[in-house]
Amino acid sequence: MRPALALLQSHCLLYVFSGMCVPIVVGSLPPALPWYVPCPVRCVCQIKPWFSPDSVYHEAPTVDCNNLLLTKLPLPIPLNTHTLRLQSNLLSVLDTAVLHGLPNLTDLDLSQNRFSRVRMITQSSSLPSLLSIHLEENHLSHLPEASFSSLPALQELFLSHNNLHSIAPGAFNGLDSLRRLHINNNRLTTIDPRWFRALPQLEVLMLGGNPVEALPERGFVALTSLRSLVLGGMGLRSLAEKALEGLEELESLSFYDNHLTKVPRQALKRVPGLKFLDLNKNRIKLIETGDFKDMLNLKELGLNNMEELVSIDKASLDNLPELTKLEITNNPRLSYVHPQAFVRLSRLESLMLNSNSLSALHQNIMLSLPSLQEVSLHSNPLRCDCLFHWAAQVARVVRFIQPEATLCSAPPELRARRVREVSSGEMSASCLPTIPTSSLPSYVGVQEGGKLVLHCRALAEPYPELYWVTPSGLRLGPSFFKHYQLQPEGTLEISRISPREAGLYTCVAENALGADTRSVTVGVHNRGKNRKRGVMTKPKKFQFMRVEARLELNEVGEHYAILSWQSRQNLPSTRLSWQAMQTSSHTPTYTTRILAGTQSFNLTHLQAETFYRVCLHLGVSEDGKRDNLGSEGSKKPRCVSFRTKDVPEPQPGLQLNPELTSIAVTLLLLAYILHLAVQGWDAEPGEEARKHHNPELPMITGLKLKRASYISGMDIYRREQPRPPGFCPVYSQHVSTDSSILSPS
Ligand SMILES: *[C@@H]1O[C@H](CO)[C@@H](O)[C@H](O)[C@H]1NC(C)=O
Ligand SMILES: *[C@@H]1O[C@H](CO)[C@@H](O)[C@H](O)[C@H]1NC(C)=O
Repeated sequence: MRPALALLQSHCLLYVFSGMCVPIVVGSLPPALPWYVPCPVRCVCQIKPWFSPDSVYHEAPTVDCNNLLLTKLPLPIPLNTHTLRLQSNLLSVLDTAVLHGLPNLTDLDLSQNRFSRVRMITQSSSLPSLLSIHLEENHLSHLPEASFSSLPALQELFLSHNNLHSIAPGAFNGLDSLRRLHINNNRLTTIDPRWFRALPQLEVLMLGGNPVEALPERGFVALTSLRSLVLGGMGLRSLAEKALEGLEELESLSFYDNHLTKVPRQALKRVPGLKFLDLNKNRIKLIETGDFKDMLNLKELGLNNMEELVSIDKASLDNLPELTKLEITNNPRLSYVHPQAFVRLSRLESLMLNSNSLSALHQNIMLSLPSLQEVSLHSNPLRCDCLFHWAAQVARVVRFIQPEATLCSAPPELRARRVREVSSGEMSASCLPTIPTSSLPSYVGVQEGGKLVLHCRALAEPYPELYWVTPSGLRLGPSFFKHYQLQPEGTLEISRISPREAGLYTCVAENALGADTRSVTVGVHNRGKNRKRGVMTKPKKFQFMRVEARLELNEVGEHYAILSWQSRQNLPSTRLSWQAMQTSSHTPTYTTRILAGTQSFNLTHLQAETFYRVCLHLGVSEDGKRDNLGSEGSKKPRCVSFRTKDVPEPQPGLQLNPELTSIAVTLLLLAYILHLAVQGWDAEPGEEARKHHNPELPMITGLKLKRASYISGMDIYRREQPRPPGFCPVYSQHVSTDSSILSPS
């Protein structure tokens, strides 16, 4: 029998959350033996296997009278009955005298009956041998003082799924030996720390399924032996710092299905022995830096089924030397795991990340997990590009779970291929930023005076930089403080928001290759007026009506011109177009998209000594549907014309005689013509474009300039021209549709 026992013990902790502990063992039990006694009519009397609460095996004389519609105790009950099962009957009172005549009664199952008062069961003299009593699914509503004092040996008390709404402070007095208490799924609204004072031996406490919104500080301090605490389905919104204080032996803790919006990291610090932690199905939006730090005994962590989780931030799991299994699955909005999210997880073997919205997993994550054996990434919209290079490399060491379902969904040419079968050669080396659609909704409502929190994340190689643009056109970078806060990972926070701050906010993620933007409309709920209707006020129309922006020419050179404009509004789909004005031939019009928050632009690669006409087209919506601002004034582009400078004539520095001078000039001219010719023959179109001023060719220059105002000649392409080599294909619909293009308009 010993192997079965070991099984029981090793599985108990893991399965305690689901209540599966006992059933797991049942399969391996020996069969029941006949028991020759006068048995109550319709009941079954047998010798059956039975495990004591501390997992010791017994052959127990068992009377089974389940499901018989009984309204009173069946007779006669054999004297040496050990286990009496009366589950699913219609009992509301019990002839306790009969029970007290059973000296060896150890386990009594009265679940699914009609008891409404606990005294009906436990009154008068004691049942000194009873270790376990099942009272689940009855009609109990109140537990008076010392409810179970006639059961001095009791080790397990099951009271779940009753109507308990009040429990006297000393209800459990006398239960000095109790190890397991289930009072989950009742109607308790508060937890009274005094209940637990009588339970020094308690090891397992199930409290879930009660509508308790807050746990008291030091509420469990008396439970110094507790190993497992289940607080699932309670409506907990947050956890007091000292809520878990005193739980020195606690190994497993479940907050399954609560309303927690943050990881209760301060409270968790008080339970350093924790091995199993379940935070599944909460309203946590971010796993933030330091949320799980220095939990030296943690072995398994579950962060599954969170509707609102969008990001696992940098170093959010840090120094968890015992962690072997991490599950972050079924989070429909989770699209971002920071490349350094996991730090010092030297033992992590199993990383479950399936069924999220992840487009990629950065190779740094793989490199940071030396013991990793298996990874599960299926059912994610994976983009098989630069961010997935590791997949081909580690395939031999790390096992993919369900590799046949781990498919690329982008780029188009790799769609539906199995990630593991794509070679590194097929993946591009660098890639444009993408802001995942799932991380930012298109509309967010906040109440006036409340806090606006917008999360923007982007993955790219090289690592992208993020900034936000407010409705008034203000660009918020990391160094911007005061009223606004931009967290390093890309979360924008505005406290005490006013209705004037409603409008369009745009997040921009940018790297040397290009940019992606995403806008969100913020409505501010006006406290007084709209409360009755309960509707958020959408930003008012007038904000889009008057768009002031005058285009100005700041500087002009031979081959460039710097233009600037000022707008007191966030115009994320603004474009700039320009055309050389030559009477002789038809010249194409070039267009480039202007990144939100940008108010100046260095037009490069212009031809010298040429007239140009440049126009600014203001636009609000990124999808192009509302591009015309709806007001007449704004439809008209703002334009300026100018002429690029002349190329200076070469000037001889010395006074020479006229003849010599003319020879010199001729030579110089010859040299210049020769030089031009050589340049012409040498020019490799793609290469030359980067360095020189050929307006016919694509270019990506100026991107590394970091100035107060963004000046760039980025992403200017003619449609007919091939993309420069090394450029990631644009496949996210949102990857700046025009950040890469150029339509002759
Ligand atoms: C109760 O159990 C003990 C020990 O197993 C046994 O000796 C005794 O006979 C049992 N009592 C009855 C009434 O069967
Ligand atoms: C604009 O671009 C030109 C050509 O690339 C460059 O020479 C000039 O310094 C740039 N001006 C600014 C202000 O960046």
